[in-house]
Amino acid sequence: MMELINVSKRFIARREDLLALSGINMRVGDGEFVCVVGPSGCGKSTIIRIINDIIKPSSGRVVVDGFTYEKNAPIPHKLIRRMGFIFQIPNLYPWLTVRENIRLPLDIFGLRGQKWMNHADFLIEKAGLSSCADQYPGSLSQGMSQRAGVVRAMVHKPDILLMDEPFGALDERTRERMDFELLDIWRENGMSVVFITHNIGEAVLLAQRIYIMATAPGRIIDTLRVDLKKRDMSSFEDARFEEYSSRINNAIGNILLEKAV
Ligand SMILES: Nc1ncnc2c1ncn2[C@@H]1O[C@H](COP(=O)(O)OP(=O)(O)OP(=O)(O)O)[C@@H](O)[C@H]1O
Ligand SMILES: [Mg+2]
Repeated sequence: MMELINVSKRFIARREDLLALSGINMRVGDGEFVCVVGPSGCGKSTIIRIINDIIKPSSGRVVVDGFTYEKNAPIPHKLIRRMGFIFQIPNLYPWLTVRENIRLPLDIFGLRGQKWMNHADFLIEKAGLSSCADQYPGSLSQGMSQRAGVVRAMVHKPDILLMDEPFGALDERTRERMDFELLDIWRENGMSVVFITHNIGEAVLLAQRIYIMATAPGRIIDTLRVDLKKRDMSSFEDARFEEYSSRINNAIGNILLEKAV
């Protein structure tokens, strides 16, 4: 469904030339849950921004559902409509209520009518946000804001969720709870997910496949298929969970060593 083929991105800032991404090859199948793990600055957010067409790659190709992104033109509105983007910080508008924030994509994509309003309310209810839906974001806890951000990204029923370290700022237990909620949503809706994280355990818990990245230049150093019997609290006891985690740790550790030499 989605493919990055030999994608590179060069940034030129203050006369410095930075190869942020080099030769990225990545595939995300229909309904597949893919994680990207790597150290700070390896280009994870840049990948998401390229897929979302916020920035253009310097070279290489991006193909989503058979459509190849053009160098000098934005991707069609109907393709953007198929994506939901969840930021590291929820970025809710403080002057809109939680419900208005969540309905915003419906306005943007011209999805009008009672059916869509009901769908928004259904998700608000499901995310446990009913009691604060008519409040302003300023009064929400971090976990609730983040949940509102997730609901907002999904309200227009995207086929592809792009999640850039969505739960990175949350405490461990809240993060875990959000991970399990996300897994439930994914099982029910079957969308494709690209999920970025620093957290190796989170990647192993969530992903069917993990891309492991390294810095300078940002590149993929390994791909890992994760095959856990179950994805719930018992996963942490699965011997393979530890195995996968240490394989990622070793790959990333090796790179850190390489850099130190
Ligand atoms: N617009 C830009 N102009 C210049 N350099 C940029 C720009 N955006 C990103 N970079 C640089 O590209 C590299 C990759 O950035 P990116 O934000 O993709 O990393 P990341 O893996 O998401 O890091 P983090 O884990 O800290 O979020 C960094 O060195 C960053 O400074
Ligand atoms: Mg980032």
